[in-house]
Amino acid sequence: ADIYFLFSGLIGCSWAMVFAAGGFRVKLYDIAQQQLTTALENIRKQMKELEESGFLRGALSAEQQLSLISICTDLKAAAEGATFIQECTPENLELKKKIFGQLDLIVDANVILSSSTSCLLPSKLFTGLKHVKQCIVSHPVNPPYFVPLVEIVPHPETDASTIERTYTLMKKIGQSPVKLNREIEGFVLNRLQYAVISEAWRLVGDGVVSPTDLDLVMSDGLGMRYAFIGPLETMHLNAEGISNYCERYREGMKLVLNTFGPVPEFSGEIEQKICQVNRELINAV
Ligand code: NAI
Repeated sequence: ADIYFLFSGLIGCSWAMVFAAGGFRVKLYDIAQQQLTTALENIRKQMKELEESGFLRGALSAEQQLSLISICTDLKAAAEGATFIQECTPENLELKKKIFGQLDLIVDANVILSSSTSCLLPSKLFTGLKHVKQCIVSHPVNPPYFVPLVEIVPHPETDASTIERTYTLMKKIGQSPVKLNREIEGFVLNRLQYAVISEAWRLVGDGVVSPTDLDLVMSDGLGMRYAFIGPLETMHLNAEGISNYCERYREGMKLVLNTFGPVPEFSGEIEQKICQVNRELINAV
């Protein structure tokens, strides 16, 4: 089977479990042996618990999946034989550039170099690398073991075959990949998330609704739809198709959207207010 290698933090371990559940051999790499030993122990514990509760992914037993995962502190040895490398170092551009620079010197023309970054653009991470055609961002959502979405974001020079191979691989391990045709700040998930957060912030800040009621609008309202279908399909089903929806709601939507305020500061009094309400809520729980 193919070999994949990763870094052993929170996301690295999750990826390792997802790949092993898909039946792939995984090599976990990290800078410290202790980090790797702990990571492996954590993975073992999680897999056993998942198996007992019936939530273990894949067709193999926990023991079989564990036997697919090995550890390694030598980057060169870790990369040897790998066909897909998923980088999961901390979200730090300089560190990631350093790692990709090192990998660039080691790998051959068949390996895909993939980054888990949540917000660093491929043009920042990969420009100037010899193997830039093989580089891509595969952004997971935490926890990837339970949330399948992966945003696949190419560098302008990424080969079409790199995109296709990554997409196919993600499908194969049971994730739900989406392809971005070009890079953009926040990719797609965080752009949608920030659009919702900023309007939530404005509504609470303007005193229209309390923080708890704002959250209810999502958890007991919009979120119920969005847990199953996306906003565009919702439009389609909310009327007799998209065109009918636009015909009915076009002017109304524009009217409302034109009343949206500027980008919030996400600080000061509103921050304090939301902070306090949530603190009380969590203490109560
Ligand atoms: P983490 O801090 O849990 O793990 C980072 C790992 O990198 C650790 O195992 C650490 O030992 C290792 N490391 C530190 N310095 C290193 C170095 N110089 N060379 C090699 N390895 C080194 O971080 P986490 O949360 O797993 O995040 C990793 C990446 O995944 C980040 O780019 C993050 O943006 C992305 N991501 C995180 C999500 C999350 O919710 N935590 C969600 C989606 C993506």
